[in-house]
Amino acid sequence: MDWGLKNRLAKIIRPADDKAVMLAVDHGYFLGPTERLEVPRNTIRPLLRYCDSLMLTRGILRTCVDANFPVPVVLRVSGGTSIIGEDLSNEQITTSLKDAIRVNASALAMSIFVGGKYEHQTIVNLGKLVSEAEEYGIPVLAVTAVGKDMVRDSRYFSLACRIAAEQGAHIVKTYYCENFEEVVNSCPVPIIIAGGKKIPERDALALAYNAIKAGAVGVDMGRNIWQSDYPVPMIKSVRSIVHGHATVDQAYDMFKNLSKESSPQKISKLSASSKKPSELSKKQKKEK
Ligand code: R5P
Repeated sequence: MDWGLKNRLAKIIRPADDKAVMLAVDHGYFLGPTERLEVPRNTIRPLLRYCDSLMLTRGILRTCVDANFPVPVVLRVSGGTSIIGEDLSNEQITTSLKDAIRVNASALAMSIFVGGKYEHQTIVNLGKLVSEAEEYGIPVLAVTAVGKDMVRDSRYFSLACRIAAEQGAHIVKTYYCENFEEVVNSCPVPIIIAGGKKIPERDALALAYNAIKAGAVGVDMGRNIWQSDYPVPMIKSVRSIVHGHATVDQAYDMFKNLSKESSPQKISKLSASSKKPSELSKKQKKEK
């Protein structure tokens, strides 16, 4: 493997244990100011030191993250749709490779919509992005986006992850499901899991634990960290599972103990007053 590609991948998946804690804060690219990510700088700042890498768009990176802080960046380079638009699968590449290099991205990320209306476009774009990025030694993370009406089982996720790997993705992000080992075993590149919609902390920790046990190399988690009342205790507890071999009980005890010592995150005025996407439109939404 190309030296630069290997070196960048090592910033995402830590060579000490081949595991990864990626913090996802790219949601605004189609959701706008979603709950508890209304002021990204405030959400991101306290969590930065506890993640191995940060996944976000160039706009939020340039405006909300201190360039002096040495966090590896996984740059989302696809988009073009919104939660109230016609079809969320109609994504294109929106950020140039030149710009990705300019912000010193350690990896690029884009979504593919297997089974979606624009499946073809997104899969072809993934192949093209991998070809271009590899010329500069930059790895690509393929995000397997899930449509609202899709069955989220191991058969579907195996299909989506394998297609991403066949196009040359170096890491694939997907969702945990029953028989997750099947998804991992049929995908020849490392898999990380998204957290999905906010669920109780213990359940989110169990999700991370089960995914790692089934062979995922880590998490790319967002809402289940920063929508918790206690984001820092939550990311530390997730970390203890991914890097520290903690069991669900141990991680949850850690979460409870750390939470007792912290103050709960305040709900911003913007969050309290902002309309939920469901109030904006009943059109198709990307379920995560
Ligand atoms: C979509 O907005 C992104 O790919 C998210 O980064 C991804 O869904 C992970 O975030 P969460 O854990 O909130 O699902």
